[in-house]
Amino acid sequence: MKKVKKLIVGNWKMNPTSLAEAKKLAGDIKKGLRSVKKTTVVLCPPFVYLSSLNTIPNPTLFLGAQNTSSEISGSFTGEVSYVQLLDFKVSYVIVGHSERRAYGETDEFVNKKVRAVTGEGMTAVLCIGESRRDKEGNYLEFIKQQLHIGLQDINKKSLSYVVIAYEPIWAIGAKYAMTPSDIHETSIFVRKILRDMYGPIADDVLILYGGSVDNTNALEIVRDGFVSGLLIGRESLKAKNFLEIVKQIDGI
Ligand code: PGA
Repeated sequence: MKKVKKLIVGNWKMNPTSLAEAKKLAGDIKKGLRSVKKTTVVLCPPFVYLSSLNTIPNPTLFLGAQNTSSEISGSFTGEVSYVQLLDFKVSYVIVGHSERRAYGETDEFVNKKVRAVTGEGMTAVLCIGESRRDKEGNYLEFIKQQLHIGLQDINKKSLSYVVIAYEPIWAIGAKYAMTPSDIHETSIFVRKILRDMYGPIADDVLILYGGSVDNTNALEIVRDGFVSGLLIGRESLKAKNFLEIVKQIDGI
């Protein structure tokens, strides 16, 4: 697999409401990416659209899933297995998004998914992030724990199939993103934890930022926040804005 340097993941969440719109959005994005050279883009549509969008992948554009079961098969009503995703050319899977954790997913549960996804050679986009920043700095311990448990039993080899998406919950679906300097500080902290866990190889892990990214703040977030890319929700549903962001990042 080619080494990814900059990564932009579009999390469509439970949108759009029709297959026709999903195809149009993916098609418009694919067309607009022709001039993009250095940046890898991943689109994560709802499961039901994956089979219709699996013509999308090319050397810079990949399909991702927003979630997976940690089980291969069985009596798990409403779930989709990571093995089932393989048939649809899914190469990235978001795990532990805060909107899933809000339904009760624990760090241990998220860890099972990271192990499942990486074990199949797909990349797990492990989402972490605090719900609030307290003056005492307890949020740092919270982030540390999310990483320690989320990556339990992930060895150095599997680590090459892990991307960390730092998404402070209070900045998701909000009006403003976190400031680039705070993003930089937190990404240094995340990197340090990864280094303590894995040694120098941890420097190869991509750290993304997510939470209210748009075409007015994306460039400074990546450039001044020193992150390797972005996890984008709302703006990934607007082809023009999303492409603008990708091109800005590609130009860095
Ligand atoms: P947002 O969502 O860009 O709409 O804030 C980000 C996310 O939930 O991943």
